[in-house]
Amino acid sequence: MSDKKIAIITGASSGIGLAASTTFLASDWNVFGVDLSPAPESLMSNTTNFSFLKVDITQSDAPSQIVAAAKSAFSSSRIGALLNVAGIMDKHAGVDKLLDADWEKVMAVNLNAPVKLMREVINDMKANGGGSIVNVCSKASVSGAVAGAAYTASKHALFGITKNTAWMYKDEGIRCNAIAPGGVIDTNIAKSSPPETWDMAAYAKIKPIHDVYADFYNLAPEKFPKSSNSATHAAVLLFLASDASAGVNGVLVPVDSGWSTL
Ligand SMILES: NC(=O)c1ccc[n+]([C@@H]2O[C@H](COP(=O)([O-])OP(=O)(O)OC[C@H]3O[C@@H](n4cnc5c(N)ncnc54)[C@H](O)[C@@H]3O)[C@@H](O)[C@H]2O)c1
Repeated sequence: MSDKKIAIITGASSGIGLAASTTFLASDWNVFGVDLSPAPESLMSNTTNFSFLKVDITQSDAPSQIVAAAKSAFSSSRIGALLNVAGIMDKHAGVDKLLDADWEKVMAVNLNAPVKLMREVINDMKANGGGSIVNVCSKASVSGAVAGAAYTASKHALFGITKNTAWMYKDEGIRCNAIAPGGVIDTNIAKSSPPETWDMAAYAKIKPIHDVYADFYNLAPEKFPKSSNSATHAAVLLFLASDASAGVNGVLVPVDSGWSTL
């Protein structure tokens, strides 16, 4: 039996999820990537340790499909980690301008799908000696001033579920932690919410807080904070998934060059 563990990584085709997939493969994990978008070409040549399922994680049968496909792709090893990375932005609207469809979509992708995938994976981890779950949250998990109502609610709740899961399964060898990226520039998340759809009046209330972090687009690339790279986030995800962080459970680790100190 192979002692390589499987890491299921959602959002594996782009940004932080792609960087995490690359980092985990280099660290001797089997990676099962999941995304709505086509598989990342850069990883598809690794047919031994990388496998991929193109699926919308909000579909009701996605969690069972993902776990079954991951286990059959690497039949000789167990699921050691789940990384809930896939997520979308909102349009920055506060409650007064919130559209039902936007609320439902953001909650479906950023909260409901990760929770249901955790449920599926935890039942497998309980039967197989434990594992580690890492959720990609946001500064919007602890601040009301950096995103719209839907994104803020989804990421606050995802951190809540992270803490609840950490406590509930600590005696079964299952840990659950989260990271809070600041602003990551080498990703495609902006495509999930084009500026022409934003609630600009609401965004004007958020922008000063963003500007405190960094106005990346006015900086030379060599001056970008380290936290603006997806690879920096992937390294923290690897730490939280691995035994190096064995005593860490239920925390939200900011990866934002100090923005969280505000
Ligand atoms: N980029 C940032 O500045 C930033 C800041 C804070 C938090 N985050 C969080 O980081 C995570 C990753 O974002 P990113 O910046 O790498 O974005 P990204 O858009 O580059 O990657 C997200 C991936 O998720 C996939 N995805 C979206 N909806 C899906 C669905 N329904 N089913 C399956 N796959 C789906 C997309 O296809 C994409 O490949 C998100 O949860 C986001 O909220 C990002």
